[in-house]
Amino acid sequence: MTFETPHYLQIEKVVLLGRAFDEYCRMFALDLAELRQEIILDAGSGVSSFCAEGTALGCNITAADVIYSYPADEIARKCAFDLEDVMAKLPAIADLYVWDEFPTVEALTQQRQRAYRAFLPDYEQHGQSRYKPTIYPHSAFETDAFTLTVSSHLLFLYEDQLNYAFHRDTLKELLRVTSGEVRIFPIANLKGKRCVYVDQLMADEVFGDYEFEIVRVNYEFLKNANQMLRVFTRDSQLRQ
Ligand SMILES: C[S@@+](CC[C@H](N)C(=O)[O-])C[C@H]1O[C@@H](n2cnc3c(N)ncnc32)[C@H](O)[C@@H]1O
Repeated sequence: MTFETPHYLQIEKVVLLGRAFDEYCRMFALDLAELRQEIILDAGSGVSSFCAEGTALGCNITAADVIYSYPADEIARKCAFDLEDVMAKLPAIADLYVWDEFPTVEALTQQRQRAYRAFLPDYEQHGQSRYKPTIYPHSAFETDAFTLTVSSHLLFLYEDQLNYAFHRDTLKELLRVTSGEVRIFPIANLKGKRCVYVDQLMADEVFGDYEFEIVRVNYEFLKNANQMLRVFTRDSQLRQ
């Protein structure tokens, strides 16, 4: 009997890959002028350069991630390892991805390196004043501390690794600390299929006071992972 290798990115846990500020703008359909008006939390920010680049551009951004209790050199080692590991796996599953923006694995690797190399010096310089060690679903932020929370490539994508309770409790926590709205990208799992938790969350009575909206955005690397989830109350959504 032969067993076929499943045809999607095989990883055991959430990886340390970081995206850059311009990618965040497209994933969350926000421009610099809009971002400058908000008090922003980036939940599960990891080695992304969104906080470092955005703060340099005049935005008010706080980053939260489980890795921020570790020193920069340890994070640097781990993200370089994860990047190499993921990039080595991509050629075999290249058909699952859109190679427009990053035409080759090398180009993608360079973009991910650019992000973490912008993150690391900012992390070393500003430490926990900007980068808050946080293990979701819990956080230490005050209620309504932020007007906008964004979370990229943590929820939904890792459908096989993170269960429904984690998604529900993390979203509850993100909404507690956010007076405006929460935006999550993508809503697809690693196979490029809509994560089953999206509809479960939208139907969960815990979120009965909230409105959900799925928005197609101008960012797609994993095929079909081109939608963002907005969660807000009627009174709280951002001005568009
Ligand atoms: C794939 S990375 C995404 C990083 C960034 N948001 C981006 O899109 O570039 C996922 C991040 O989630 C973080 N993470 C995983 N589980 C977490 C948890 N329970 N609490 C906080 N962060 C977590 C990881 O440490 C990692 O940095």
